[in-house]
Amino acid sequence: MITLPELTPLENTLWLTLAGKALDYQAEHPILRDKTAYDVVTKLGYDAGQFKLSASPVVGIAHRSLVMDDIVRRFVARHPGAVGLDLGAGLDTRVHRVDPPATVEWYDVDLPGAATARRLLLPERPHAHTIGADLNDAHWLDEIPADRPAVIVADGLIGFLSKEELATLLDRLISHFPSGEICFNGYTRFHVWAARKYAGTRSVAPYLRSPGFDTPQDIERLEPRMKLVREIFLGREPEVARYPWTTRLASFLTAWSTFLSRKGTAVQHYRF
Ligand SMILES: C[S@@+](CC[C@H](N)C(=O)[O-])C[C@H]1O[C@@H](n2cnc3c(N)ncnc32)[C@H](O)[C@@H]1O
Repeated sequence: MITLPELTPLENTLWLTLAGKALDYQAEHPILRDKTAYDVVTKLGYDAGQFKLSASPVVGIAHRSLVMDDIVRRFVARHPGAVGLDLGAGLDTRVHRVDPPATVEWYDVDLPGAATARRLLLPERPHAHTIGADLNDAHWLDEIPADRPAVIVADGLIGFLSKEELATLLDRLISHFPSGEICFNGYTRFHVWAARKYAGTRSVAPYLRSPGFDTPQDIERLEPRMKLVREIFLGREPEVARYPWTTRLASFLTAWSTFLSRKGTAVQHYRF
């Protein structure tokens, strides 16, 4: 039997996305197909249904992870000596899904309790490291090589950072590496408002600190060394064909409009 550390409420937000990925695995037409996420949930006897996630958030969680996996795959194909970073990694299994070559050093960073849970629950692999640290601390980057291009993912993280914390984090990352790419799911003011208004008490809403950034240009203004590669609206991607019909219909009705698409899930992809 595995004894997990006591997690803080902020660390406990990792269960929501893990549950989403496990539910996607069981869906009729899975998007991410993350068997390890499903296995972890099953092994723990964790009730993935407790969040009462409807089809829309499940496909959103799975699809945004798929899009970010793809960005990582393409980057490491072009930069086999890269460093990969997953910030606020929780129990996400990206390094296993992407399976980068052994020339890539991979770092999953999360708060200490979440990092311990990772070490206990997820399979180890060579060249993959777990760092238990608060991303707002100044020194967690010290142990990461600074002379290699980096691909950096923050999947489900930036909503938990204040504007100042995000600006400081981006500044530290971009100052540390010679070049690289960063991607994350966008958190607009609408998302912050909707999470606070509609989400239940088990949700992430109480821990959201972001004011919300409505456009990728808001992020470029926050950190001018970041240049947008692409804003990827999930509702316009081919995987929509695998969505349950209600979510597919909602995507169809909103995909024509950038304004409406930003109310759904978008992945923002930058280079520096
Ligand atoms: C919603 S979960 C997402 C987990 C994972 N990325 C995924 O997609 O399944 C948010 C994660 O961010 C982590 N987190 C939030 N603020 C953090 C901080 N200041 N430093 C490190 N990790 C943080 C939490 O501990 C949690 O694991």
